[in-house]
Amino acid sequence: MIYELSNPVTKSLITHLRDQKSDAIRFRHTIAELTKQLVYEALKEFELVQKSITTWKGEQSFGAIDETNIIVATVLRAGMPMLDSAIDLLPDATAGFLAMKRDEVTHKSVLYYDRLPDCKGKTIILVDPMVATGGSMMDAIELIKGRAPLKIITLNIIGSPEGLEKVSAAYPEVDIYIAQIDERLNSDKFIIPGLGDAGDRSYNTVE
Ligand code: PRP
Repeated sequence: MIYELSNPVTKSLITHLRDQKSDAIRFRHTIAELTKQLVYEALKEFELVQKSITTWKGEQSFGAIDETNIIVATVLRAGMPMLDSAIDLLPDATAGFLAMKRDEVTHKSVLYYDRLPDCKGKTIILVDPMVATGGSMMDAIELIKGRAPLKIITLNIIGSPEGLEKVSAAYPEVDIYIAQIDERLNSDKFIIPGLGDAGDRSYNTVE
């Protein structure tokens, strides 16, 4: 399923991201804020477990998310501000990192950095700000699926209807939480109206 956030605060933050006046620090900060909104939405039905803690009145049990069964994963590099933000909210979750590039000839994805922890039986929260064609998300989901996770959830900031439909059709079991679904892809496979390239905007690089 695809879930799009609708809160006016979310939409206002998206407008800040589109604004070219937003510099790298504002851009990353806004991505981080939006990520927190996405985490809240994605985990709103998550079961709480009882956790024993020492309170001012002694030992007591209270509900808490079992973060030790959660892995927050990203494909380098534009997802880094999202990953940092998500693990700030879930400090006992484990972080995972992947780097892939597409072979220009075969168009197949080649994995060249893999620091994904053992995914077996875990909930994987995959973060990537952009879903343009959906190819990157599908490559990452395919790889993670092969590691026997319990569930995969994706958090995305902005996407095209075409890319999202493609991912959703290929992986109906994956829940996709996104802050903004835009109008379309252009012929260069950029999201329109979009916000440019999230990696470049975050890190002051130009492709
Ligand atoms: C961007 C973005 C996604 C991908 C989306 O990464 O972060 O991973 O493009 O495009 P797709 O849906 O058509 O696959 P990019 O390849 O620019 O790398 P970067 O994170 O290093 O900027």
